[in-house]
Parts: sequence; structure tokens; C-alpha cells
Amino acid sequence: MSIIRTVDICKSFTTVEAVKNVSLSVDQGEVVAVIGPSGSGKSTFLRCINGLETITDGEIYIDEELFEKRVKGHPHVRMTKERRAEILIKTGMVFQRFNLFPHKTAKENIMLAPINVKKKKEQEAAAQAEELLVRVGLADKFDEYPARLSGGQQQRVAIARALAMEPEIMLFDEPTSALDPELVEDVLRVMIGLAKSGMTMLVVTHEMGFAREAADRVVFMADGEIGEVGPPEEFFTNPRNPRAQQFMKSILHQ
Ligand SMILES: Nc1ncnc2c1ncn2[C@@H]1O[C@H](COP(=O)(O)OP(=O)(O)OP(=O)(O)O)[C@@H](O)[C@H]1O
Ligand SMILES: [Mg+2]
Repeated sequence: MSIIRTVDICKSFTTVEAVKNVSLSVDQGEVVAVIGPSGSGKSTFLRCINGLETITDGEIYIDEELFEKRVKGHPHVRMTKERRAEILIKTGMVFQRFNLFPHKTAKENIMLAPINVKKKKEQEAAAQAEELLVRVGLADKFDEYPARLSGGQQQRVAIARALAMEPEIMLFDEPTSALDPELVEDVLRVMIGLAKSGMTMLVVTHEMGFAREAADRVVFMADGEIGEVGPPEEFFTNPRNPRAQQFMKSILHQ
């Protein structure tokens, strides 16, 4: 069963067509890595799935339920605000920047949404937050404020915060690209663990090692379109799309 399915989605800004006819489904338990040059529409694609952008054409299904539909020139087909919010809980998102609340501890940051949105009891939310912090390797940082955590530690709190909402899919947008190189590994380890635990994941990344090790499929985007999709071993050894070949060369020569 697909957790996310997009059908020919497009997103135009005034002068730019950022996403053009992208059709992709991510099945339950699948890990899909999205790679591609800067400006190719990767973030916009994720933002459409997470409701942060409204599509200009196409359909998005979450858990096989129509989430958004647009036919150019016609009004948007959308569900009620309440249903939309309920569906969006199914998608957890981790951004390049962690955006933790600075005046709340690691644990409090994680407890916030489960208490406010899921109406969890404080004690239950606290126990869950502690469990998640242990899982992301921060057993000794429950009561630390973000400013006293490294970038990698903050990003792991952000991952735990997204997991606390018990999403069906985790969306990551270059979660390690703002980190100092020595901190990247700890975050990737948590993501690989998550992938191995069966979490469904759609990950925009430039960490080719992660894509090779953890992804079931690699999606290559260029100019707002999907240029190639395939299993990592195939894609990395023998990319067929000329833009993908060029992209891989440019990475190797960095
Ligand atoms: N809010 C916006 N308004 C206008 N144009 C935008 C907006 N957001 C993105 N774009 C444009 O859409 C295109 C795709 O941008 P997007 O951020 O999705 O690319 P990306 O693949 O994530 O790039 P990067 O690897 O640099 O993060 C770019 O040309 C960008 O300038
Ligand atoms: Mg981006």
C-alpha cells in the first residue's frame, strides 16, 4: 500500500515551474532518496506533500486518501481544514534547520505537539519523549536547552520531535547539510536505524552513502522533473539519464 502517491503534480511560482508532472508513490516501509542539482525542485516537492505549498496541478494521496487535487483553471479540491490537519499528522518532516523552541528543553520540545495536538497526558508525553531521546542517542540531554546542544544533537532532537507524533512517513529535507562534517555521521546513523526499523521515509539528501546504504529507490530530479528512478546499486553504477550522469560526475569531482 502506498503511503504517499503523487499523480502528475505541478507547482509553479510566478515565473518558475518548480515541479513539473511529478508522479511518485512511496510504499509502506519503503525508503526513497531524492537527489538532484540545486534548484531542481526537491524541497518544493516535499513541501507540496507536507501541505506547505499548494500544488498548481495534479493529485496527492496520503494513505490512499485524496489530500489535494488541482486541475489548472479550476478551484482546488481539498478536504475540510480539520481533515487536512488530521491527514498532515501522518507526515513528519525534518528540515535542514532544526527550528527547536529555544526556551524549551529537548524533552519539552518533543512533548509539545503530542500534548497540544494529540491531547496526550503530560506524564505519557514525557515518558515517550525520554524514550525517543534515548533512541536518538541523547539519553543524557533530556533537560538541556537547544543553545547548549551541538547542531547534530539539535537535529536529532528534531527527528525525535517528528517521531513523537507517530507519523506514517518521515520526510527529510537535507537534514545534514547545515551540519559541520564531524556531526553528520551521528544524524545519519539515527536515520539509517530508522530506515532499518521499517519506517517509511522520503529523504532529500546529498549524502550518497546514505542513499546507497539505506534507500530502496533513488529518485533523480532535474529541472522540476523526475529524470530517473531506480534501485541505488543500479543508479549509482550505471545512471542512464544524461543529466544524472553529469550530476554524478560533478559530485565525484567535488
Ligand atoms: N517561494 C518561492 N517563490 C518563488 N520561487 C521559488 C520558491 N521556492 C522555490 N522556488 C524556485 O523553485 C525552484 C526549485 O526550488 P527548490 O528549493 O525546490 O529546489 P531544490 O532542489 O530543493 O534546491 P536545493 O538543492 O538548492 O535545496 C527554484 O528555481 C527556486 O528558485
Ligand atoms: Mg532544497
